[in-house]
Amino acid sequence: MYSILLSLLVCQLAFRPAVSDLHFQVFGDWGMGNKQQKLVAMAMMKNAVITKPNFIVNVGDNFYKHKDSDGEKQGGVNNLEDPLWKEYFESVYIDYLRNIPFYSLLGNHDYMGNISAQLLYHSKSPRWYLPSPSYHITVQVDEQTTALFVFLDTSPIIVDYYKHPENTKMADNLKKLDPKQQLEWLEHVLNTTSANWRFVVGHHPIISSTTASLLTEQDMNMVDTIIQKYSVQAYFSGHIHQLEHHNDNNIDYFISGAGATGRSYVTNPKGLRTLNWFGQDAGFLNVTLSKDLMTAQFLGTDLSVLHTSHTPII
Ligand SMILES: *[C@@H]1O[C@H](CO)[C@@H](O)[C@H](O)[C@H]1NC(C)=O
Ligand SMILES: *[C@@H]1O[C@H](CO)[C@@H](O)[C@H](O)[C@H]1NC(C)=O
Ligand SMILES: *[C@@H]1O[C@H](CO)[C@@H](O)[C@H](O)[C@H]1NC(C)=O
Repeated sequence: MYSILLSLLVCQLAFRPAVSDLHFQVFGDWGMGNKQQKLVAMAMMKNAVITKPNFIVNVGDNFYKHKDSDGEKQGGVNNLEDPLWKEYFESVYIDYLRNIPFYSLLGNHDYMGNISAQLLYHSKSPRWYLPSPSYHITVQVDEQTTALFVFLDTSPIIVDYYKHPENTKMADNLKKLDPKQQLEWLEHVLNTTSANWRFVVGHHPIISSTTASLLTEQDMNMVDTIIQKYSVQAYFSGHIHQLEHHNDNNIDYFISGAGATGRSYVTNPKGLRTLNWFGQDAGFLNVTLSKDLMTAQFLGTDLSVLHTSHTPII
């Protein structure tokens, strides 16, 4: 069901002029409208002027609350006309970022609002890419090298989300999706790709240093089994409002969920086993991909380099 839109995306991207190296930034959990969101956005813009990223990866939780006729709701947008589009997105990610695609995902907060509006928003703002809750793109890194990005919609995988009585809207939205079919689709995409670099992006982490995502990580195990089986090089996520880098069985796991706030959590000893680095301040990930090496740097709002990781192609 996703394939028509996807082939359009892939064709469009295949016409990039001859290039060497691919640059992108990964950020998430940003739609709060607070000062920290603007500081991260400013840093992303300044870094974009230096690195000229090909695109931005947005791991979701795009809107944390919205107002509708019965008052304030927990997340998402009401419709295409919701003023939050301008307030939290268009007027925040400006300048150099205006003409760069934002490959986006829905976070659990987005599921508390109108999902269709987020899927349709591309028609109003071409840089917003969210053709369906999950999709994949393949991009050229150089003339010989390609990179696959699978954008996976992880909220429907989280069993607990169907049970929240206070979030009937979320459960209603999720019930329309088929998580099992999505995992089969993920497996099919990874099994049939010929891309040299293979990445999976999801809102929820598979591993984190915190106890806050213990429950969701249990469900995300199913995704882990698949990405391990097909040897993807990295998994990018958010959800936890920190910056984290883990490595397990030759896969790098990045959490970039500090697009509007950084905070501390209770530590999960199990997550420490795979942890390379974590930071509790707001920031984002600055990534450069060449034919055989990925360099990923966590940057703070002052553009200081907080942590650098090198992933070789395997
Ligand atoms: C969701 O947003 C779309 C696009 O603006 C709109 O057509 C639709 O009526 C909205 N749905 C609800 C339930 O408000
Ligand atoms: C990929 O799909 C083919 C054809 O269905 C199957 O034979 C093969 O075992 C799959 N690869 C893996 C690693 O599961
Ligand atoms: C982001 O990465 C690029 C490529 O490695 C580098 O040129 C740039 O200086 C980095 N940004 C910052 C702020 O360090």
